Amino acid sequence: MTARKKVRSGMINTVLTDYKYSEVDDMDKSPIGVFDSGVGGISVLSKIIELLPNEKYIYYGDSANAPYGVKSDEEVFAFTEAVFEKLLERGCKAIVVACNTATSVAVRRLREKYSDLTIIGIEPAIKPAAEKHPGGRIVVMATSLTLRRKKFANLMARYGETSEIIPMECPGLVEFVEQDDMDSRELAAYLERRYEMLGKKKADAVVLGCTHYPFVKDRIQEAAGGQAVIYDGSRGTANELKRRLSLKSLLAEENQAGSPDILDTDISADVFSNVEILNSAGKEKAELSWRLLKRIMGIRN
Ligand code: DGL
Repeated sequence: MTARKKVRSGMINTVLTDYKYSEVDDMDKSPIGVFDSGVGGISVLSKIIELLPNEKYIYYGDSANAPYGVKSDEEVFAFTEAVFEKLLERGCKAIVVACNTATSVAVRRLREKYSDLTIIGIEPAIKPAAEKHPGGRIVVMATSLTLRRKKFANLMARYGETSEIIPMECPGLVEFVEQDDMDSRELAAYLERRYEMLGKKKADAVVLGCTHYPFVKDRIQEAAGGQAVIYDGSRGTANELKRRLSLKSLLAEENQAGSPDILDTDISADVFSNVEILNSAGKEKAELSWRLLKRIMGIRN
């Protein structure tokens, strides 16, 4: 083992902030950490895998502490920081915060703390929605915490001049997804009640400002009246990850698990051999995450 590799293996028991990513050999082969308050970030992971099938992934869902969206800033920061430490112990070369709430609360501070690390956040896709629907009615569904933050106020101020932006807090919606309750009448009734606030004038676009919501996208579209175009930030996040890894020459060149590229072969469960899913609430939520990942990527087995 070289001296440089020793730095990496010793990292687990050392102060993580002292760790220098540049000291690790073959950093491009290290995994990418993807993190959410629970199972929602799987919607982002699916887009990242499609774009970067050669990479290794560790997905960490913090379902034991979900939902984040109704907690205090300090609680969310502490949960997020704790997950970062777990992912860094595993030698991740980059961390994607696949959670709008954790991004708005914690990413700026974590970038200061881990200045060497590639950290990608997600934000509600208001920009593409406003650009496609100038003068339109745009609903932004998100957690209470995301909508309360300055980051969101800035987006509102920027795009609210040319479009009508309607923030819609959705407390309780994350729980439907976490509990694998995505087809029930209760969910339909919940969404109908949220959309009553719009009155007769329907939305032109709906921005899914929480990574759990794409799993109930069809239900949201029904409640919004069927005509609304749905936007979410996962594709933009995947593109940004690719751009940033490429700038640092950290993209994996070959498939890390020796499995076939998913884009040019039959998609099968085999492609997931480069993905590890962990969840703070245990096996049941990890299994739900796997089911959601396969479902959203159109895989049956
Ligand atoms: N997926 C998280 C987000 O994007 C959900 C937050 C929560 O746990 O309340 O905001």
